[in-house]
Amino acid sequence: MSDTIVHLNGEFLPIEQAKVSVLDRGFLFGDGVYEVIPVYGGHLFRLDQHLHRLEHSLAAIRLRNPHSHDRWHEILNELVQRNGGGDQSLYLQITRGVAPRLLAFPADNAPTVFAMSTPVRRSENAEQGIDAIVVDDSRWLHCDIKAITLLPAVLMRQQALDRGASEAIMLRDGLLTEGAACNVFVVLNGVAITPPHSERLLPGITRDLVVELCHRHTIPCEERDVTAAELRSADEVWITSSPSGVVPVLHLDDRAVGNSKPGPLWHRVSNLYRHYQNDFRAGLVT
Ligand code: PDD
Repeated sequence: MSDTIVHLNGEFLPIEQAKVSVLDRGFLFGDGVYEVIPVYGGHLFRLDQHLHRLEHSLAAIRLRNPHSHDRWHEILNELVQRNGGGDQSLYLQITRGVAPRLLAFPADNAPTVFAMSTPVRRSENAEQGIDAIVVDDSRWLHCDIKAITLLPAVLMRQQALDRGASEAIMLRDGLLTEGAACNVFVVLNGVAITPPHSERLLPGITRDLVVELCHRHTIPCEERDVTAAELRSADEVWITSSPSGVVPVLHLDDRAVGNSKPGPLWHRVSNLYRHYQNDFRAGLVT
């Protein structure tokens, strides 16, 4: 970590030297938004889609985007190169900046802009799958905003770990929403189904790509509500996220999903996803 270079308010500097005020509204109120962007072979994956979602999150909390898309491209690509290229995970956070501790927006405040990118070794054993628990969705009703205020996710992820699982999958009003840090697909009668975009869940970049790949390869795929009963009786359950890709869930609350092995549709879709990643690495797709 010690040779990690980060970007803070227009400067590139070693992570140990990057300091933020205790009056930062991100620290005091969680008043900010973020993105996590995977880097393959030195290139930022689906960067425009991430910047588009960032734009949406910023607008939703009434924070002006501090940079144009072109400028973001420059800053983030430079950050990746300064950290050695290859495979990385880039974290980007913008808060409403440093101001006296008052809830009301400060006038004309400079935002705090922070980005770090660190090398990762991508796991090739997604096939091992994960176990998940099912919990009530206790979050607010603006889950389409990628807000840094993650206390509910922290608590439910820990609850999952305490129960020997690794992710919490949420239900609100009897319907599937998403996981603590991922979107969810179920497979019923050969159809991959994921809840539609709404204020109940984050419009995941990986989720959207999986839907796109299914349509392109004529794999039956629907974006519609999934009931608790459908989740619990699904033949397959997958989670999707930028850091992990498409991962099969093998147990839900200690009960086997299907035969507790990655299912046939997961194999197809995860192959398509991996091919897409490889094509991206080779510069064949954007
Ligand atoms: N989280 N839903 C939630 C609540 C998430 O936090 C995430 C990702 C996703 C998946 O989105 P994407 O496919 O764009 O990564 C869905 C990131 C990785 C995080 O908080 O670290």
